Amino acid sequence: MIDTLQEVKSILKKYNQEHLLNGYQDLDERKKNELLKQILNTDFELINSLYLNRTKEKSYKNDKIEPMEYLDKYKLNEKYKYYEDIGKHAIKNGKLAAVTMAGGQGTRLGHNGPKGTYDIGLNSHKSLFELLSDSLKEEGKKYGVTIPWFIMTSRENNKETLNFFEKNKYFGYQKDKNIFFFVQGELPMIDTEGKILIGEDGLIKQAADGHGGIYESLVKSNMIEKMRELGIEWVFIGGVDNCLVKMVDPVLMGIAIDKGVTVACKSIVKANPHEKVGVFCRRNGKPSVIEYSEITNEMAEAVDEDGELLYGESHILCNLFNIEAIERMGKTPLPYHSAFKKAKFIDKDGNLVEPESPNAYKFEAFLFDAFGEVDDMAILRVKREEEFAPVKNSDKEKVDCPSTARELYEKFHNLK
Ligand code: UD1
Repeated sequence: MIDTLQEVKSILKKYNQEHLLNGYQDLDERKKNELLKQILNTDFELINSLYLNRTKEKSYKNDKIEPMEYLDKYKLNEKYKYYEDIGKHAIKNGKLAAVTMAGGQGTRLGHNGPKGTYDIGLNSHKSLFELLSDSLKEEGKKYGVTIPWFIMTSRENNKETLNFFEKNKYFGYQKDKNIFFFVQGELPMIDTEGKILIGEDGLIKQAADGHGGIYESLVKSNMIEKMRELGIEWVFIGGVDNCLVKMVDPVLMGIAIDKGVTVACKSIVKANPHEKVGVFCRRNGKPSVIEYSEITNEMAEAVDEDGELLYGESHILCNLFNIEAIERMGKTPLPYHSAFKKAKFIDKDGNLVEPESPNAYKFEAFLFDAFGEVDDMAILRVKREEEFAPVKNSDKEKVDCPSTARELYEKFHNLK
């Protein structure tokens, strides 16, 4: 322990983060060990470079950007059945698994707890998790299989998520047999001087590292190994906040298999040029997504000769990956995007500070930043009213909120 403490001190000195041990003496033994472990596991070189690049968003201004070609699910004509048959065959043979990214909290919704536990106000009062599980079970039945379900949580909500599933008897799934949980990665938060923050618990203040960490987490948590044992070849990865997400789609899968691509994504037409969704494009010839926060007005509003948006294929976080592509992406470092947030912390005198304005940087990788790693991908345009009912904001904002999601869900399922 004394040796470890010395080692930790010299690391902190090297990186100018010695304040991390300010409250060490006041911690109990368990926390002391935990803090030392956290420090030893921190990649300080990475933290330094994140700090130095915190305001430099990777811009596409010097890249060659072109629209991305896509197939329209409802204009495939005779090819529809052809692709569907290929996909059905693979699903019946147990080649598909689903992953739900559920690391987020329902903060923007005013919900105190994991986002997946949120009740969007249907008469049944089912949570987002239950709506997703209903759809997955129903789809599996059509093909005579149970689609294995993998749920990504975060340290912040892992325990609560597991309790919720246990209380609900895993909605008929069997833990560690056909439903699995794994925890996403985290990164320390830093202040405007590049100093890592200490949280209220006396430990390093960490925040979820974004859904781009999913590839690495799937590999590190041995979920990929588990999938291989189950004979899985294709993995659908989707968000927890879309109550119409269609995780089992034989047409999408058939296209991926037939075209020999390792990633196939669904898109919908952008509702308006400034809808808050990322759009697919080719960046220097490679598949890519330009985020809504990044796109210029000119590009968002550009139309083709038929008056259709040139960059109108929205990324709805409905993406199908070959298991090998996930393994490859798990080994590729992704860029981090920074966000300036309010974060409570313990100052150098041991006092808790509760800032009223943003004071710290949080770093996140985005899953779609890995798309440039694949040789090629297929995009399938689907219908918004069938597959996209996100719950992101509170009803006050009137878009992508519980009431809009509920309406879309009820309409699609003929509940009203
Ligand atoms: C996201 C996409 C955007 C897309 C839109 C469609 C990003 C950066 N952008 O925007 O391209 O058009 O959805 O709805 O994702 N999550 C985790 N762990 C994390 C971060 C997120 O599990 O560390 C999960 C959330 O629980 C949620 C999903 O990822 O299920 C989306 O994350 P969110 O931050 O809400 O993304 P949006 O800004 O809505």
